[in-house]
Amino acid sequence: MTEELTLLEKIEEARHFLKWRGCDQPEFGLILGSGLGELAEEITDSITVDYKDIPHWGVSTVAGHAGKLVYGNLGGHKVLALQGRFHYYEGNPMEVVTFPVRVMKALGCEGVIVTNAAGGIGFGPGTLMAITDHINMTGTNPLIGPNLDDFGPRFPDMSKAYTPEYRQIAHEVAEKAGIKLDDGVYIGVSGPTYETPAEIRAFKTLGADAVGMSTVPEVIVAAHSGLKVLGISAITNHAAGFQEELNHEEVVEVTQRIKEDFKGLIKAILAEL
Ligand code: HPA
Repeated sequence: MTEELTLLEKIEEARHFLKWRGCDQPEFGLILGSGLGELAEEITDSITVDYKDIPHWGVSTVAGHAGKLVYGNLGGHKVLALQGRFHYYEGNPMEVVTFPVRVMKALGCEGVIVTNAAGGIGFGPGTLMAITDHINMTGTNPLIGPNLDDFGPRFPDMSKAYTPEYRQIAHEVAEKAGIKLDDGVYIGVSGPTYETPAEIRAFKTLGADAVGMSTVPEVIVAAHSGLKVLGISAITNHAAGFQEELNHEEVVEVTQRIKEDFKGLIKAILAEL
């Protein structure tokens, strides 16, 4: 009988494999959300690795997510970019959803830039929003289970999960480049349904400015391990009840429209980090 590997052993195997493939000294991890994966094409001297080749890595199933990891130079730094992430609604355990962030930490990253497409609660389609904080409405927490003491404490502080210095830099860069960047709170849900209008009214009362089905698990795991975080939401639609209907095609179409600003912004931010 083969023994089930521990999470720590799985992380170590994935780290070892990526190092062997040449992804050896990333400074920043980039998680590219729906329709935003194109930024990885601007990485130079790149090494591309299929998710399916990486030990213990999940599989991407969503339209607009390529399922590749790209390592190389962007904005004067070595980055490890994920074209496509793993969602809880796909049936992935939280351990799989957050595994790439663990491996980024194990490979030595200082910080991660986490991006997503989100519905606007107040903000309209086309808005870029720097995430100031989040509300975990997924119904679970990726740190449930034995604590990985080598990564961080049992009860991690989430007061500054979104690193204020990174957000400050993002705003300075956006202003210089003439790109409008708002600030707001992201509420993370499990999906896969879009929200009901009543849920969106409730989320608005709770203080949320944008809603989406990702990011929160990854940021919790990043904060646990002391990774610095910049979160950027691309608002692709008005949340439920503020527009006639919601669909994934619109989400992808609006990200197509704002992707040039998005790509320029992230690259310029990296250059200042
Ligand atoms: N709700 C949840 N997730 C989303 C939305 C939304 O309105 N738009 C893009 N991702």
